[in-house]
Amino acid sequence: MTSPDPPGTHPAWLPPEAFRPIGSRRTLVLGDGLLTETVHDEAARACARYGGHVHRHTRNEPYDLVLALTTAEPLPGPAQTVLDEFRSTTGPPANTIGGEGYLTARRHGVTTVLADDAAGLLYGLFHVVRLGERAFTEERPPERHAPTMRRRMLDHWDNVDIHPVMGQVERGYAGGSLFWRDGAPRGDLARVRDYARLLAACAVNAISVNNVNVHATEALLLTDRLGDVAAIADVLRPYGIRVHLSVSFASPVTLGRLPSADPLDEDVRKWWADVTERVYDTIPDFGGYVVKADSEGQPGPFAYGRDHADGANLLAEALEPFGGVVHWRAFVYNHRQDWRDRSTDRARAAHDHFAPLDGRFRDNVILQVKHGPIDFQAREPVSPVIAAMPATHLAVELQVTQEYTGQQRHVCYLAPMWREVLGFRPWGPDGPAVADVAGGVSGNGGGLVGVSNVGDDPYWTGHPLAQANLYAFGRLAWAPWTDPAAILDEWIDLTFTPAATGDTEPAATRETERLRHILHTIMDDSWRTYERYTAPLGVGFMVRPGHHYGPDVDGYEYTPWGTYHFADRDGVGVDRTRATGTGFSGQYPPAWSEVYESLDRCPDDLLLFFHHVPYGHVLHSGSTVIQHIYDTHFAGAGQAVEAGRRWEEAAGLVDPSLHARVTDLLAEQIRCAGEWRDQITTYFFRKSGKPDTRGRHISR
Ligand code: GCU
Repeated sequence: MTSPDPPGTHPAWLPPEAFRPIGSRRTLVLGDGLLTETVHDEAARACARYGGHVHRHTRNEPYDLVLALTTAEPLPGPAQTVLDEFRSTTGPPANTIGGEGYLTARRHGVTTVLADDAAGLLYGLFHVVRLGERAFTEERPPERHAPTMRRRMLDHWDNVDIHPVMGQVERGYAGGSLFWRDGAPRGDLARVRDYARLLAACAVNAISVNNVNVHATEALLLTDRLGDVAAIADVLRPYGIRVHLSVSFASPVTLGRLPSADPLDEDVRKWWADVTERVYDTIPDFGGYVVKADSEGQPGPFAYGRDHADGANLLAEALEPFGGVVHWRAFVYNHRQDWRDRSTDRARAAHDHFAPLDGRFRDNVILQVKHGPIDFQAREPVSPVIAAMPATHLAVELQVTQEYTGQQRHVCYLAPMWREVLGFRPWGPDGPAVADVAGGVSGNGGGLVGVSNVGDDPYWTGHPLAQANLYAFGRLAWAPWTDPAAILDEWIDLTFTPAATGDTEPAATRETERLRHILHTIMDDSWRTYERYTAPLGVGFMVRPGHHYGPDVDGYEYTPWGTYHFADRDGVGVDRTRATGTGFSGQYPPAWSEVYESLDRCPDDLLLFFHHVPYGHVLHSGSTVIQHIYDTHFAGAGQAVEAGRRWEEAAGLVDPSLHARVTDLLAEQIRCAGEWRDQITTYFFRKSGKPDTRGRHISR
């Protein structure tokens, strides 16, 4: 990295200018409670900078903006009018705004935000920030906004100690941890507070502060080092964010010195109950535990002949009196499989383990399911577990950190992928979508979880454009049906453009639009670009083992990890059909099971996930598999070059150090995409002997 860092921490999507429209006006904040104070403080800070006023009590003077809890009635006239209008149109019992929701309107020159709960007021404030000047110029009828997902959570895979292989942050590509450094709390709580603000602005409301792989030091966060967790919780609380903790299932043995961690053992149950009580004594609004058990070497209930329901229920029982939840991860598979054994299929594992347990989990267990059946590849089908457990609260886990999507050295805007996942209808076009399962009936689903992409890097996410993924994660958890391009616009407006400053000079507007256009050109399709130059047609992996960056087609082919492509001289892909393969396709409800089973109907982009086909197999697109591999790899690498060229045009439109950082990263992306193109095309040319019909150069 040669480019200079910005002076200080980059403000991401909350630069001071984003608050100018509020800060230069007259605001009234009504209501009690910690989060209402936060709303007031935010407005007051903006007013101190831009000359406006904020009051906590109604005075006999006009306001431009009223932010009020409905419990703070009597409301000032315009706000009461909005509330009456809302109530008269909805009628009981639906006439509450609800939990974290807010009502917003502009009537008679007053912009109003009303909420039943202070969290809603905070989210309403950030709604006004997003609208910028528009919040104060156009009359608007009352609109109610409420989150689809009750829990919108980021999991940090941060280690307290520096792990000898995984470092400070497992799969982290943005420097060190915000919370921990070299075995101790980092101590920079001001930075954590800024992070909390950013997250509140996109409505994330839960964080787990340590890696799901819980090593010795990290296990102590539950007991001896609980104070370190409490210090973080104190800073997150004013922004409506609860702290969760990854815990080791073996804790009763390793920390409690019990002979066993058997979930049905009375002493073990008591140990968890006591420890959990102490946690809540220290952190009364503690969110709960995250557990990776019997997965990739982590301890779990199998050692005692128990199953995952026994394990999860043990912790749920301890958390239940305090309203806490356990996020139990479904990422369970055999990572010591024999590559010669074609019948074992890692894709099947989560469904095989968990679907039979549906109905056995306590009410405060949330089964946390990765969106795909393997492991966060650029293209996977949606996990069949999501459709298989109607009696279980399910959360869908996304990987915001770009382990398999370019490690924050490549531009890869992930919202289009997530939107596709959330919109997928496992039961067919008339059934519910993934977003409905995770949201649940009236928000009682498990929610959305993202593995955070944030570190102590000045840009938060290493690649400055990867900030958009963090922002989009929160926005999609709130409103999963939002168009990813619209989310990108919000992020661009807040982060880069002077629109919020009220600078409407034609020159400024033109520059804003140019930058917007450049960013859309580079980012909108960047996930598909990444997909094009990496593993083809849904087959996955083909990455360098261990760190998972860059191409290595056979890197995992003869390993125990269960991630194979089975390329030979005749063809490539994994036969996961019921007829002749592993039977994985049968884990879906009929609508999709039949589609995936059928060679004719299987979508092209998942063909090699479900079928082993000859290189000459003709896709729906009309191309053969081998020609598709050549074409997409040349196209994808070419698009990376084009992104680099477009970014040059952004010089002068963004901060020079940010421009330089992205320029450096794009150079690496272009190099790496070229390497992917060359290794993949050469590999398949050598295997198949089939030339590129378009005669491009492929190394022999
Ligand atoms: C991936 C990742 C691991 C991580 C695991 C998980 O396999 O490479 O680092 O621990 O996912 O989700 O638990």
